Amino acid sequence: MRAGILPELKREDPRLEPWVEQVARLCRPDAVVWCDGSPQEYDRLCQLLVRNGTLRPLNPELRPNSHLALSDPSDVARVENRTFICSRTREDAGPTNNWVDPIAMKQTLHGLFDGCMRGRTMYVLPFSMGPIHSPIAHIGVQVTDSPYVVLSMRIMTRMGREALEALGERFFVPCVHSVGMPLRPGQPDVPWPCSREHKYIVHFPEERAVWSFGSGYGGNALLGKKCFALRIASCMARDQGWLAEHMLILGVESPQGEKTYVAAAFPSACGKTNFAMMLPPRQFAGWKITTVGDDIAWIKPGADGRFYAINPETGSFGVAPGTSFGSNPSAMEMIRKNTIFTNVALTDDGDVWWEGMTDTPPRHLIDWTGQEWTPDCGRKAAHPNARYTAPLAQCPTLDPEWENPAGVPISAFIFGGRRSTTVPLVFQAFNWSHGVYLAATIGSETTTAATGTVGEVRRDPMAMLPFCGYHMGDYFNHWLDMGRQIPNPPRIFRVNWFRKDPSGRYLWPGFRENMRVLKWIIDRIHGRAYAIESPLGWMPRREDINLQDMDGFTHEDFHQLMEIDCESWIREALADEELALKLYGKMPKEFLLDRQLLISRLWRSPDPWKLAYQLPY
Ligand code: GTP
Ligand code: SPV
Ligand code: MN
Repeated sequence: MRAGILPELKREDPRLEPWVEQVARLCRPDAVVWCDGSPQEYDRLCQLLVRNGTLRPLNPELRPNSHLALSDPSDVARVENRTFICSRTREDAGPTNNWVDPIAMKQTLHGLFDGCMRGRTMYVLPFSMGPIHSPIAHIGVQVTDSPYVVLSMRIMTRMGREALEALGERFFVPCVHSVGMPLRPGQPDVPWPCSREHKYIVHFPEERAVWSFGSGYGGNALLGKKCFALRIASCMARDQGWLAEHMLILGVESPQGEKTYVAAAFPSACGKTNFAMMLPPRQFAGWKITTVGDDIAWIKPGADGRFYAINPETGSFGVAPGTSFGSNPSAMEMIRKNTIFTNVALTDDGDVWWEGMTDTPPRHLIDWTGQEWTPDCGRKAAHPNARYTAPLAQCPTLDPEWENPAGVPISAFIFGGRRSTTVPLVFQAFNWSHGVYLAATIGSETTTAATGTVGEVRRDPMAMLPFCGYHMGDYFNHWLDMGRQIPNPPRIFRVNWFRKDPSGRYLWPGFRENMRVLKWIIDRIHGRAYAIESPLGWMPRREDINLQDMDGFTHEDFHQLMEIDCESWIREALADEELALKLYGKMPKEFLLDRQLLISRLWRSPDPWKLAYQLPY
């Protein structure tokens, strides 16, 4: 075997240049380019990608400085079954991660990366996750042979000269990425190069390193995002006493100017971006929602005993389908310019379209596969996991503190999933450990954000199942510990926007109407709102939530939304047992007791348990 970087991979030399040289020696690109993150560099790479067909410029009058990319049909989402946590021992990765022995994996990777960048340019991207110089931020360096990834990383992170200067000789997370398709001399490139045979998204938690091969899409390729900011960062957080979470961060400002920040974890494609950018309905005149982040939160205990959170990212890699001026006007404003669209449809006048953007589809489009499309053709115009990549700075609801290096103080954690049955609209945990139990036992129907079956309920603890870089049982214990270390931990809530009636209609209108639920949560945080003790937790009565002027929303709808079917919940509690068995030995004692208490409460309740039973106070 050639002496490349992988077999030793100890990186005893902390400096950047020798590492870049080693990677270049292994991957053998035609050229190495260090990126400075300047607008000129961005424009140059856009022009390059327009020339080779990866990007189509959109109509500059309708969508200034914006582009459309259509991916290879085999490369449209995260590949969870090709994602590996290669810790020294299988036990450290835990039963919910794919584990391969790190030495064996390095040998595999060595074979794949050997010469993989031939004919291509290797770009070196220093980037900061979080405001540069923030005590909560960390620096990474990604090398990649995909200019599309360079452009995306420039939108999503603080990439370039400033990050490099801040790095100096300090620690960085090395991230190596290749599309895995070397070019022979004279061979024309394809618009979306990626390997159809080999995809490997690999993490070495002890080395804090990421190696990604074969995909150019989203979380597989923008390594600052899920690979570093969640999988590697969750290991750093465990070791250093903080939290790296799949959470949005938002601020709620009351008409009196009271400001409260909350963080919320919903699984992929379950409503984080929409919630983070919500415009309250008109019944909430004077209330304002402000956005700090829409996907990832890094959270550290502050000197005053509260949790402080930063958004490590600077962009939004958001789900396009369903985004409209009705559902998320702030996102629609954010993506007016300087945006990369991937796998959406192209209109005849050079703009973009996707399902749900307008009530009536255009009469003719080029769809995400590059084919002619008409409304009656029976195919979707945009891929269901089509995305936009846009600077968060363009979001009209941006919070003034979003770049504060100290972060914002978090008063509550909200956990949700996509459940068409069983789970009520909202309830509050009795205390911290019960809240961590509720977060750890979220079930959610799978979506198109990852390849695989869609619509199947799976346990997705803290919305981190695909993103926790170590043993899930250790992760639960870490969460319990974090709450014990601070005097007044955030309140914990569960929500579900997706419950349906037997005919399949959503019972709750969702989107901006979620403000009604959030207002109750804010009032609970400040000790102003009433709640009733249900078998699941504290619940609002109808009169505790502002349900004014909701057209067509009946009292009966509310009671159906809040109903607890005790038998189904006992089955839910038994489903937890499956996870408990998997994590056996590391399952916190608190969870076993909380489950027992939950079952006892359900057992002794009228079935179904209804808020309507409660006497008014
Ligand atoms: P990731 O970027 O994959 O992490 O997704 P996300 O959690 O940010 O989800 P996003 O806000 O992009 O929403 C995903 C899908 O859920 C979109 O199709 C939305 O239209 C839909 N959605 C979001 N909020 C609601 C809601 O309150 N009710 C309903 N019914 N659908 C919603
Ligand atoms: C998610 O799947 O949670 C996303 C998209 O936010 S990706 O960046 O592909 O992970
Ligand atoms: Mn996400």
